[in-house]
Amino acid sequence: MQLPRIVACVVLGLRVCDAGVSSPAPTLKSAFAHAFRVGAALNPTQFFEENARAVQLITNQFNSISPENVLKWESVHPFPDQYNFVPSDHYVDFGRKYHMFIVGHNLVWHSQTPGWVFKSIFNFPVTREALLQRMHDHIMTVVGRYKGKIGGWDVVNEALNEDGTLRQTAWMQIIGPDYLVKAYQWAHEADPKAQLYYNDFSMENPPKRAGGVALIKMLQAHGIHIAAVGMQGHYRMDWPSTNDVNDTINAFAALGVKVMITELDVYNQNPADPHSLSLPETAQQALAARYADLFKVFLHHQKTLTRITFWGVSDGDSWLNSDLPNFPLLFDRQYQPKPAYEAVMALGRASKAPPPPVRYKSDRNF
Ligand code: XIL
Repeated sequence: MQLPRIVACVVLGLRVCDAGVSSPAPTLKSAFAHAFRVGAALNPTQFFEENARAVQLITNQFNSISPENVLKWESVHPFPDQYNFVPSDHYVDFGRKYHMFIVGHNLVWHSQTPGWVFKSIFNFPVTREALLQRMHDHIMTVVGRYKGKIGGWDVVNEALNEDGTLRQTAWMQIIGPDYLVKAYQWAHEADPKAQLYYNDFSMENPPKRAGGVALIKMLQAHGIHIAAVGMQGHYRMDWPSTNDVNDTINAFAALGVKVMITELDVYNQNPADPHSLSLPETAQQALAARYADLFKVFLHHQKTLTRITFWGVSDGDSWLNSDLPNFPLLFDRQYQPKPAYEAVMALGRASKAPPPPVRYKSDRNF
């Protein structure tokens, strides 16, 4: 009996299903669709669509986007009475055009925040009341503008020290620890349907992990619904251990929150020639193995993890190039997939539950 062509395609898993017609090759977003979203942080050349190759890669591979810089305070609100929404509007329009989950990053941070935020006239420190008012106005204006469009916000970024205590930022010194509670309350008020996240790095280290757990518990005790904790995931070849990644995901899952890897990259220079713009095969394979180890942990936690976002699309875009060329991502400077991409994809494909058997009326063995 000749099977209808479409059935044959499904049963045999053929990629080429008809003369001259091929189904799209699997990509990150399809290989992990059953597990979590896969995202990338974008820069303006990408969401202004100045580079067609980059746009094609982004829209094929990813179903979530994060703004690398354009929604940070210094970018979106550079002066007291001046907001600059041109780049962030483009960022959000890009995500809507291509039906992606759109992340907001971030609202309250000690870095990339202009000095005026913390100053009064004659450079005196601003009062607690005035700083709360500024924070309120900023959050209401920025979150309010993208209400219903941005799906989730990194409300507070990097509030913790390595030892797990609260970082003595200007927010902390001028307002006190309740700056955290206020930030989440106002973000919720500005867009009650937006997910609210806490985002930080190094929470794989036990003291900071404990600080993160205490921080989330404190927010929950104030009635705040934290949808997810973002583990930034700025990793190295030898840090953190996969055990520590695993333990940190478990620690947050136990609080009833989801977890996301929000800024994934693996710091990786050419060991033989740190100025080289290419990576030797041995180093490519080592990076592939490191990514495979990490994705095994991520897949193990697919019920807790909702998103894995890379901090950049291709190696050339990465913030880690500020000093010497770095090779931390899955795509090279020509936007070509690296061995690390193939390793990650192999895990995604293998983890997928096989499709149920196709049953035929005529087949009495079923
Ligand atoms: C980085 C950007 O990638 C750089 O372009 C910028 O110069 C500095 O900030 N943690 C974060 C991100 O939450 O916002 C940072 O992004 C990387 C560390």
